[in-house]
Amino acid sequence: MTTTARAGRAAAEPLRPEPATIVEVIEETPNIKSLRVVFDDGELMKSFSFAPGQVGQLGILGVGEATFAISSAPSEKDFLQFSVMKTGVVTTAIHELAAGDKVTLRAPLGNSFPVEEWRGKNVLVVGGGIGMAPLRSLFMHLMDHREDYGDLQLIYGARTPADVCFSSDCSLWSEKRDVDFITTIDAEHPEWGGRVGLVPSVLEEENPSPENNVAVTCGPPVMLKFVFESLEKLGFREDQVYTTLERRMKCGIGLCGRCNVGPRYVCVDGPVFSLAELRRLPDEL
Ligand SMILES: Cc1cc2nc3c(=O)[nH]c(=O)nc-3n(C[C@H](O)[C@H](O)[C@H](O)COP(=O)(O)OP(=O)(O)OC[C@H]3O[C@@H](n4cnc5c(N)ncnc54)[C@H](O)[C@@H]3O)c2cc1C
Ligand code: FES
Repeated sequence: MTTTARAGRAAAEPLRPEPATIVEVIEETPNIKSLRVVFDDGELMKSFSFAPGQVGQLGILGVGEATFAISSAPSEKDFLQFSVMKTGVVTTAIHELAAGDKVTLRAPLGNSFPVEEWRGKNVLVVGGGIGMAPLRSLFMHLMDHREDYGDLQLIYGARTPADVCFSSDCSLWSEKRDVDFITTIDAEHPEWGGRVGLVPSVLEEENPSPENNVAVTCGPPVMLKFVFESLEKLGFREDQVYTTLERRMKCGIGLCGRCNVGPRYVCVDGPVFSLAELRRLPDEL
């Protein structure tokens, strides 16, 4: 089968899990691990592409499947990365995997951040906790196409120094002169010499201008609520603010009705939504 035919096959049969292998496991924090995965089918791996914000269904035979944002950048062609917080049955089993172990993968699923529409604009990225997973992919994509965008600012919050995810990326990003990267932790800590404060407060202190700017945020629901309020206070309109939803999914392709919010399916109409779109949906999030 040709490369193009295999790529077409993967897109045409998104319900079929493809065999894949873990090639690396990175311990990010006490309860988050990043797994680097490759499809066993070399042709499929070579032709695979995705856009930042898209997700995959990672599965373990005999255990189950769960949805995760692809946290690698589209330019990282040798693997797909998923960053997984341990919460229940599937994620606990995923945390026990090591390099060489087999998994199944259905990807890419869902929509993506409208990065083409944002060309020429400043982009403000605001993340908290495991919400950094899709934002890592986005931020790396924006840096890969640095000349297409204006100012790039990333504000990332973790509870404590030990909860800072992607710490090797954070060190690299903080050295870059053409992006403004801020990591903050919730409260003073003896091992932390950096910024302290909750994400919405740090955002307000930074006081970014809404002019020619889009804001993208992902994190725990309570953080999102206050980040939306802060952005509105700073003058951002609802159509300048984007987020990505974590609604429980099953099929991931609009068939089972598991993930709907009113008339919209998070798996196909999302997971990326503008705040303007979210505010038009029933208040059941
Ligand atoms: C679009 C999307 C993207 C996601 N991206 C990531 C990611 O990048 N990294 C990551 O770690 N997780 C991500 N998640 C969440 C992840 O899918 C769940 O944590 C996972 O399904 C839990 O499976 P489990 O079998 O371990 O938990 P279960 O044993 O099924 O449940 C354990 C507990 O977690 C709760 N729970 C499970 N899933 C969810 C959910 N989606 N929302 C709220 N509560 C839930 C259950 O109600 C239960 O209380 C994403 C979810 C979606 C829908
Ligand atoms: S997960 Fe089945 S319709 Fe969305």
